[in-house]
Amino acid sequence: MSAYDLIVIGAGPGGYVAAIRAAQLGLKVACVEGRGSLGGTCLNVGCIPSKALLTSSGKFAELTDLSSHGISVGAINLDLGTLMARKDKIVGDLTKGIAFLFKKNGVDHIEGWANIPAPGQVQVGDDTYSATNILVATGSEPTALSGVDIDEVDVLSSTGALSLDAAPKHLVVIGAGVIGLELGQVWSRLGSRVTIVEYLDRILPGIDGEIAKLAQRALSKRGLKFQLGRALKSVEKGEHGLTLTLDRTGKDTEEQIEADKVLIAIGRRPVTRGLGLEKLGVSVNASGYIEVDETFQTSVPGIFAIGDCVPGPMLAHKAEEDGVACVEIIAGEHGHVDYNTVPGVVYTDPEVASVGQTEEALKEAGTNYIAGKFAFMANSRARSTGETDGAVKVLATPEGKILGAHICGAHGGDLIAELVLAMTKGATVEQVARTCHAHPAMGEAVKEACLDALGRAIHA
Ligand code: NAI
Repeated sequence: MSAYDLIVIGAGPGGYVAAIRAAQLGLKVACVEGRGSLGGTCLNVGCIPSKALLTSSGKFAELTDLSSHGISVGAINLDLGTLMARKDKIVGDLTKGIAFLFKKNGVDHIEGWANIPAPGQVQVGDDTYSATNILVATGSEPTALSGVDIDEVDVLSSTGALSLDAAPKHLVVIGAGVIGLELGQVWSRLGSRVTIVEYLDRILPGIDGEIAKLAQRALSKRGLKFQLGRALKSVEKGEHGLTLTLDRTGKDTEEQIEADKVLIAIGRRPVTRGLGLEKLGVSVNASGYIEVDETFQTSVPGIFAIGDCVPGPMLAHKAEEDGVACVEIIAGEHGHVDYNTVPGVVYTDPEVASVGQTEEALKEAGTNYIAGKFAFMANSRARSTGETDGAVKVLATPEGKILGAHICGAHGGDLIAELVLAMTKGATVEQVARTCHAHPAMGEAVKEACLDALGRAIHA
């Protein structure tokens, strides 16, 4: 039996980062992964391949609309095979990069699916390893819809939608969340008619409502069709494609819609099966998430859990923060994550980025707040690049301490970083507004939104 200070189960962004950080802190560490390549959902079938497809499809879409620049392009050919091969190479290079980082940091990589036969033991195939601490970082998987079988041919999860060999004529996406919008936009740009069906009466639940509306308007302008207030009931396969039956929510009526393919993107659920948690007595809540305390310890001493399999936002960077804090605590240091300053980004065009509280949440809690907003239409850099859709919105206490920030706009995912740092350091809207911002830059919209919260935006 090999003895480790820490065995991490799962090599996604939570697990592999935790393993490396623990090794840096001097622990003897192994990381077990059953997938066959490192990096988890994010690198293999999530964040990274979807961003590769968003970039390629974005370049393709841009070529069709350069006339206002005086540029005309002849016949544009799309070789989907090459586009997909580029995505696969990026994924391959990055996942191999983690293997290199493991070697460099002295993390043992154990290949196979792990279970925990007893506290302090991890079994992989016929081998059992002993570990003072075990960290479960097993991530999440797409939520299934009852009565709808995902075959990854006609009825797709996000995994299947990353590897189609042709653009479907009509792709229906179920769920106007992050995955639905990102992958919907990829295939819309590559030639599909895309209809997004959403249960709620709005897109992007959890995002500030005003910003989500701006995003819906901009995405509609770019070709996505939205059918809100509808839930998928069933999918029938016929000779000429799929017939989807939708329930009109709250209306007791049904309608049908034809599609060539359907993508089910209604959320993700934690993966904990096969680990033996029940037998060990590890507490799992009604939704399947492992319950942990503020040190990431489960109800069984010596077994920890982080990332998508514990409550909280299912985001790669949140899992990384969890992982680092958890192993720092195990090593006797002071790990901590401020969940109020975890940003979220949707990488559509325009991007949607947010951190902290939404205006709806502040109203519901009866919190006193001031708000500032600045539209990119009034930002000179946005005007010169033609990226004028959207706005920056900041919410702060009456004294100016930032409570939340929300952006719909080009490069919003990068712009939010300034406001995340401001929130983390307790900076006020006045302090952000008094920070010199380069001109002309999209970031000036952040400054102006902060000025607007103080009632003194210059260019509004
Ligand atoms: P989501 O929770 O973001 O959105 C799912 C949507 O489906 C919701 O709007 C919900 O109301 C709707 N819905 C649920 N049941 C429905 C039904 N029967 N019919 C119609 N609509 C229905 O989930 P999504 O997009 O699947 O993403 C899963 C997770 O992955 C999220 O937690 C997300 O944060 C994460 N993710 C993050 C990315 C990023 O950071 N850029 C990219 C992709 C995923």
